[in-house]
Amino acid sequence: MSRSGLLALAALLPVSLSQLVGTNIAENHPTLTWQKCTGTGGMLNTSGIVIDANWRWTHQGATGTTNCYTGNTWNTQICPDGKTCAANCAIDGADYAGTYGITTSGNALTLKFVTVSQQPNIGSRVYLLAPGSQTQYQTFNFNNQEFVSLLQFDVDVSQLPCGLNGALYFSQMDADGGVAKSNGANKAGPKYGTGYCDAQCPRDLKFINGVANSQGWVASPNDTNAGTGLMGTCCPEMDVWEANSISSAYTPHTCTILGQSTCTGTTCSAPNSTQGTCDQAGCDFNSFRMGNTSFFGPGLTVDTKQKMTVVTQFVGNPVNNIRRFYVQNGKVIPNSQSTIPGRSPCDPIITRVTGNSISDSFCAAQKTAFGDTNTFASKGGLATMGKAASAGMVLVMSLWDDHAADMLWLDAPYPPTKSPSAAGVTRGTCAANSGQPQTVESQNANAQVVYSNIRFGPLGSTSTAPAN
Ligand SMILES: *[C@@H]1O[C@H](CO)[C@@H](O)[C@H](O)[C@H]1NC(C)=O
Ligand SMILES: *[C@@H]1O[C@H](CO)[C@@H](O)[C@H](O)[C@H]1NC(C)=O
Ligand SMILES: *[C@@H]1O[C@H](CO)[C@@H](O)[C@H](O)[C@H]1NC(C)=O
Ligand SMILES: *[C@@H]1O[C@H](CO)[C@@H](O)[C@H](O)[C@H]1NC(C)=O
Repeated sequence: MSRSGLLALAALLPVSLSQLVGTNIAENHPTLTWQKCTGTGGMLNTSGIVIDANWRWTHQGATGTTNCYTGNTWNTQICPDGKTCAANCAIDGADYAGTYGITTSGNALTLKFVTVSQQPNIGSRVYLLAPGSQTQYQTFNFNNQEFVSLLQFDVDVSQLPCGLNGALYFSQMDADGGVAKSNGANKAGPKYGTGYCDAQCPRDLKFINGVANSQGWVASPNDTNAGTGLMGTCCPEMDVWEANSISSAYTPHTCTILGQSTCTGTTCSAPNSTQGTCDQAGCDFNSFRMGNTSFFGPGLTVDTKQKMTVVTQFVGNPVNNIRRFYVQNGKVIPNSQSTIPGRSPCDPIITRVTGNSISDSFCAAQKTAFGDTNTFASKGGLATMGKAASAGMVLVMSLWDDHAADMLWLDAPYPPTKSPSAAGVTRGTCAANSGQPQTVESQNANAQVVYSNIRFGPLGSTSTAPAN
């Protein structure tokens, strides 16, 4: 068909056709069982696992095969602007195991790092759907008025080296994947993994609320699959678990706007900045960074060569304390205590950053001791995190490498501009030049993470959790 013929036909199409659903590949969600504990028992629930829309084949028309997006660039003829692009382009179904290395078995989810089919796929990000639903994500409220809420899961990080991050977290995405906000433009929804947002206000999303992010898109200079558009998508985020076999951290990140919000320019946050919608740095507890260098790692107190159960307790409503402990080989291991000497600008007496859990006072002391700006507090602190939770947050599980900072912020000295011996700089035993995506993708292609036996409920409602 000639170009003019195509345009004439396009003019006759109803304008409501937008961010279409591709029908070339059937979408069959792998299923995962998980438990909702009640305190007196539990319910075994089965949910679909859905891969994020960004990983999917994006092509012209529902049944077309012409790419709208190839590698890290948009086809500018199909996508002259964001709305037209969304009206022209479809996101297709996914071959979970074959293309993306995502499999489930009973209560276990495995995410492989590099999967080679027609092209290599690097990592993935998946969401938990509500049981029996293809139109709603499961949402979690980790505040509990009468009980302390608890999340527990078993994780195997033995196959994750420096530079990788197996992450399990809550994001305050819209439960409908942003369909309602799109005014009918997003036809794909949770069935196709739409609506992602987090506290980094990522600008690499291809579609936000039914509009393509093609406007002003700049291909990444060092990531053949990614780029950034003018729009970012922000929301509060609770990182329950970010880890590899060397280091782990749990980190709340707040935002001044609750729920998903679209940002442009300075309303998208910048690292370590007080500008913008969200707290990008967060308030992290990483045992190594907090002074115990023999607690978490291969052969250490929490031995990453073996399976572990990770328990995170959200105490209070709104949450005012986030606790952590581990269970390994039937033994309960409390989180390590901070041993960081403190620093108060008005007080020559050295105090210490104390405790083994995250509270607003822990965060303030840690930020002071490390010389970091407390954007966690200025964006609302734990009370705001609790408000986000009470509106319901979506469970995200991912495996990724880091084209921006080589994951050094998790497992190595960071930032590179500071001395590794300065307070708070060194986060694990990985080398300052480790974690480069090119290196890990070629040398650790077989890495993977397994999340299993997910349980959620009031404090003490799971069998191995001590009710402290
Ligand atoms: C889990 O399954 C039970 C029993 O089928 C059901 O009553 C409950 O609503 C489900 N929970 C969720 C969160 O859907
Ligand atoms: C690190 O944690 C372990 C286990 O809690 C403890 O036995 C050890 O004394 C801690 N080391 C330091 C330096 O605090
Ligand atoms: C964040 O900003 C503060 C204050 O400007 C600075 O001292 C600190 O080094 C910065 N931290 C990072 C990780 O860049
Ligand atoms: C990769 O490119 C991004 C810009 O898209 C930049 O922020 C980042 O520092 C680069 N990373 C490396 C390791 O060069």
